[in-house]
Amino acid sequence: MKDKQLTYHEQIVPFSRAELVEKLREALSDSRFSHVLRVEQTAIELAGLNHVDPERASIAGLVHDYAKQRPDEDFIAAIKQYHLDPILLDYGNAIWHGVVGWLFVKNELGINDIEVLNAVRYHTVGHQYMTPLEQIVYMADYIEPARDFPGVNEARRVTKANLQEGVAFQTKQTLSYLVQHNKPVFPQTILTYNSWVPQFDLK
Ligand SMILES: [Fe+2]
Ligand SMILES: [Fe+2]
Repeated sequence: MKDKQLTYHEQIVPFSRAELVEKLREALSDSRFSHVLRVEQTAIELAGLNHVDPERASIAGLVHDYAKQRPDEDFIAAIKQYHLDPILLDYGNAIWHGVVGWLFVKNELGINDIEVLNAVRYHTVGHQYMTPLEQIVYMADYIEPARDFPGVNEARRVTKANLQEGVAFQTKQTLSYLVQHNKPVFPQTILTYNSWVPQFDLK
């Protein structure tokens, strides 16, 4: 798949794509930076399959992990400053970089587009209601070409055939993994599960 480098026209972000890419390069390790470039490309591909704006898909794919390497103190401070649900304090970076990280994307990258921000916000735990763009970022993160886990090819096949079924597939796998490994489940993940999984006839 040849990389698509879009020219931004919609004033969703106050930078060119090249400038935005540089911001991500500065904020992330090399391996995480390559991951967001792959998520961007996968998101653009899924946008094409689902009649979604490719510029939003590019931006949301690039910024979804913007906060991934921030220290815990930054998240704890934001949870308190913005009076977010204190249950968040029982979790860690894996949850915070999406559920809280969107605030850093808004404040530091100057993005105010609610759909892009929600795509960042929901990419780790999902949500009962997700727009096609939000579903695309959730899935692109899961199936980008370097992902390698049992069932990833099935996840790619399902997602390209039916984006919503892909959301259900990932949500079921994630919850199963957490339960099998005796890990805590963030309450939003249960709400996502109830909303998405029972309506599909997954194996
Ligand atoms: Fe992430
Ligand atoms: Fe990611």
